Amino acid sequence: MKIITSVRKMQAWADRRRSEGRCIALVPTMGALHAGHDALVRAALASADDVVVSIFVNPTQFGPREDFNAYPRHFDEDVEILGKLSSGLAVFAPGVEEMYPGGVQADRISVDVGYLSRYLCGAFRQGHFEGVATAVLKLFHACRPHVALFGLKDAQQFVILSRLVRDMLLDIGMVGVPTVRAADGLAFSSRNAYLSPGQRKAAVVVSQAVHGAEEAIGKGEQRRAALVEIMYSILRREDDARVQYADVVDADTLQPIEEISPGQHVLAAVAVYFGSTRLIDSVFAQAPGAACRKI
Ligand code: PAF
Repeated sequence: MKIITSVRKMQAWADRRRSEGRCIALVPTMGALHAGHDALVRAALASADDVVVSIFVNPTQFGPREDFNAYPRHFDEDVEILGKLSSGLAVFAPGVEEMYPGGVQADRISVDVGYLSRYLCGAFRQGHFEGVATAVLKLFHACRPHVALFGLKDAQQFVILSRLVRDMLLDIGMVGVPTVRAADGLAFSSRNAYLSPGQRKAAVVVSQAVHGAEEAIGKGEQRRAALVEIMYSILRREDDARVQYADVVDADTLQPIEEISPGQHVLAAVAVYFGSTRLIDSVFAQAPGAACRKI
């Protein structure tokens, strides 16, 4: 497996592959790989000639009181996991100075994601999606992929990054890979490792909440308030669960909708703390009935 740590070398590698007519897929990660990443890499291997997995814990997407320093870093284990998936992978693992040559201070140039970060996680994590979009844009410039794959658990991230590609005229295909779940429904996340055994058991309500909303939407429930209440009532089953938000937004604009229209695509999403561990989950759903044609 090839491990590349410099941006210039990564670009040279990608340019060589491109000149040979090979299709490059990028799987951006922050490491601490789990079954969800496994699914992303497998999907990438099936769709491209060359796969780059980036491992970079991006400081600018963590708030001052978030877990940047404590974020799990298991580089050797990650490389071993990737090696088992394919020995032909390239791993791009730059340092912070390589990705932010001018430093990470607030006055550097960064991507503004506009109103898309107003609700859901964006409402509680000031600057998070600006940090994600900035880092991913840099990863795109470094790895020069034809396609990029992201997990749909971070649905707001996927919608924002897809908009980044469209609005910045990037010639990159965006692929959202369905969330991989444990047998009890909990979505795989690097942060699950922080849960105590009791919290891990209780955390099953997180996926139950979004699936509860999905089911109600499928049965015709259109009111945001009713859907939010369904999610809260499930999350309240566990005393340990501290809800940060539970909401239903339009799947494209990420703005809340008081009443879902027939055929509308929506996103039901939650963020819930168990102790100091914050878990998120979400599902895309389409309301039954035909969408009205715009005249
Ligand atoms: O989803 C993640 O792991 C990160 O937000 C990403 C996309 C790698 C950007 O740092």
